[in-house]
Amino acid sequence: MINMTSKILIVGACGQIGSELTSKLRETHGAENVIASDIRESNADFMNSGPFEVLDATDFEAFEKICKSHNIKTVYMMAAMLSGTAEKFPMKAWDLNMTSLFNVLDLAKNETIKQVFWPSSIAVFGPTTPKFDTPQQTVMEPTTVYGISKQAGERWCAYYHKRYGVDVRSIRYPGLISYKTPPGGGTTDYAIEIFYDALEKEEYTSFLSKDTALPMMYMDDAIEATISIMKTPAEQIKVRSSYNLGGVSFTPEELGKLVAEEIDGFQMNYDPDFRQAIADSWPSSINDEEAQKDWNWQHKYDLEMIVKAMLEGIRSLENSNSEA
Ligand code: SER
Repeated sequence: MINMTSKILIVGACGQIGSELTSKLRETHGAENVIASDIRESNADFMNSGPFEVLDATDFEAFEKICKSHNIKTVYMMAAMLSGTAEKFPMKAWDLNMTSLFNVLDLAKNETIKQVFWPSSIAVFGPTTPKFDTPQQTVMEPTTVYGISKQAGERWCAYYHKRYGVDVRSIRYPGLISYKTPPGGGTTDYAIEIFYDALEKEEYTSFLSKDTALPMMYMDDAIEATISIMKTPAEQIKVRSSYNLGGVSFTPEELGKLVAEEIDGFQMNYDPDFRQAIADSWPSSINDEEAQKDWNWQHKYDLEMIVKAMLEGIRSLENSNSEA
């Protein structure tokens, strides 16, 4: 018998955002109604937490089959190659980031599914964009392959909405800070690595220079924003490319000082690598008035709260691992 309850699919469910989004949605909708998928299986805890399908998001037929067999109506398309890795494999990044997006947009266009979330990024901006308080609409000339794929993706989202009525919603995430699942290959990841190194060896060498200010956000805020934009009545979603989200802006030096207040003897060093040029091309702070206005967005975590939550979170993970 076909199960007629409409369900949610998360693609890239084992990743940094996908894993936390999956657990939050399962809490709200029930584990059996939220199907996790990724290119490969994850750890036993995750695999036992609810239904899982192995899915290569670039394979349209496999994607469609999963949506039909589970009666999926909402897809969170979280699989992507991030900025640092994408610079090493430009064509692979373009192929993954664009094909997976087209697949999900086409599934909505042919009415297999009804609603799509797709993440964009501050990487859509470039060196010619105003650097501070970057507005929703401004010059966008991204110089990274990741940014080019996100910028093109945003245009396609707006196009599918206008031309085919596809209900696709998107956020330009700032750098996301979390401890439950490690990130993969982002330029903003120094703001995660620092906590692990600080706890392990009271020292961290940042791959960005001390005065590189970037917009960042704690994962709980990002998940809240993602679920909130998806719950908003369609007519309130005025931006069908992607919404700016601001979060908090800080430099490696500012973060290092706060970490040093929590960890005795913490020492911060700087050794910028190729990711410095990527960071230099991105805004330092973001204006998110449109998100505030259209769907009441407000972030909760400031930098002090993020530092405390990260240190507490990593310590509790380490304790539970050592007890296991
Ligand atoms: N955090 C991402 C990265 O650094 C930006 O969206 O690639």
